[in-house]
Amino acid sequence: MVALTRFEPMRTVALIVGTRPECIKMAPLYFELMQSKTIRPVLVVTAQHRQMLDQTLAVFGLRPDVDLNLMQPGQGLADLTARVLTSVHSWISMARPDAVLVQGDTTTVLGSALAAFYANVPVGHVEAGLRTDDMRSPFPEEMNRRLTAPLVRWNFCPTEQARENLLSEAIDDKSCTVTGNTVVDALLWTRARLQGLGQDAEVIARLGVPPEFAQRYLANPKARWLLVTGHRRESFGLGFEQICRALQQLTERHPDLGVLYPVHLNPLVQEPVHRLLGKNPRIALIAPARYEDFVWLMDRATVILTDSGGVQEEAPSLGKPVLVLRNTTERVEAVAAGTCTLVGTDPARICQETTRLLDDPAEYLRRSKLQNPYGDGTAARKIRAVLEQDLG
Ligand code: UD1
Ligand code: UDP
Repeated sequence: MVALTRFEPMRTVALIVGTRPECIKMAPLYFELMQSKTIRPVLVVTAQHRQMLDQTLAVFGLRPDVDLNLMQPGQGLADLTARVLTSVHSWISMARPDAVLVQGDTTTVLGSALAAFYANVPVGHVEAGLRTDDMRSPFPEEMNRRLTAPLVRWNFCPTEQARENLLSEAIDDKSCTVTGNTVVDALLWTRARLQGLGQDAEVIARLGVPPEFAQRYLANPKARWLLVTGHRRESFGLGFEQICRALQQLTERHPDLGVLYPVHLNPLVQEPVHRLLGKNPRIALIAPARYEDFVWLMDRATVILTDSGGVQEEAPSLGKPVLVLRNTTERVEAVAAGTCTLVGTDPARICQETTRLLDDPAEYLRRSKLQNPYGDGTAARKIRAVLEQDLG
């Protein structure tokens, strides 16, 4: 008798990605799902970010299956939310994936989760459960993630604390799995790749740093320099002016110190940063760095000053002290580990805390421990296991 083979159709899972950090954190999961025998990943980009997304897709060699091309210069929250909701909903209604995955707390996340809910397609939330308990900080991200939580069938929590945050909002424990953060998967992969290439001169050339700055700081392992990033909406205006004043004052107080600042493309960041810091020869303002080049920079900077969520999660793996230019953080584990310290945007506080790290070697050492509470690089594998079991 001839055995009949029953071919199970592959389940289609759409990974919806809008911005640079979503791309970095979804890339490991996309590659993991590519290995699956039962799930076929489909990469859908809203392109909430255009240039910064394309730059990051290229680093990982990713080609979107669908590109909704939604970014508009100077886009507002309401119009972007509306565009994501309607465009993603149209695509989901037409393509009917078996599940949708979103990552983080951007407008793409909230709009896509709601679109999937309307289309009756289950949603998985990667990096679920982060909370500051302050609805205005980060704005609008704290609200985005709170509104997303009840729309979700699978909550992939980076830490136990994140899971507890969801349980306290009456989210079903059965929907939660603690997986670690996929950013650690991406970071370890990228670091290993960089080490294999041994290409310092090429990275320095690609960064577009003025040659004198590159020579004095990047090519000299003993030089002291700060790596800076910033983009948070709640700091627009006064906050950014204060951060810039602090950086200026730090170069005045420490005559050897350099500052390297890849400036986010948001015009509300570009304008004050270039106006206030553009003429200081010890401050290099450059375009957003490719992810692998930014990892190279994080590895070599003396101290990192940032309001970035992702950088707070990456720094503990690099043993690099971070001063967080915000008044709140949802990355409480990195603060508890000693790597991250909240300093806000007050210039006096920023100068004081930076100077402390520069002048006190024991304190610097204490805050440079190599231990990452966000995982060990296996988050994507754990997420795949849950999806394969449930979508089987
Ligand atoms: C967004 C996310 C934020 C995330 C951040 C990562 C929201 C509300 N905000 O903030 O959670 O931490 O991305 O960086 O979802 N622009 C470009 N080219 C780009 C990217 C941005 O020109 O490649 C400019 C455009 O003028 C755009 C503006 O920046 O309109 C703002 O971009 P948007 O995605 O709305 O906000 P971000 O501040 O980048
Ligand atoms: N990053 C990068 N190039 C840069 C600055 C940051 O590749 O010039 C990376 C960084 O390592 C982290 C992510 O981008 O993984 C953080 O992005 P961003 O700060 O824009 O967003 P957030 O993490 O705050 O949502």
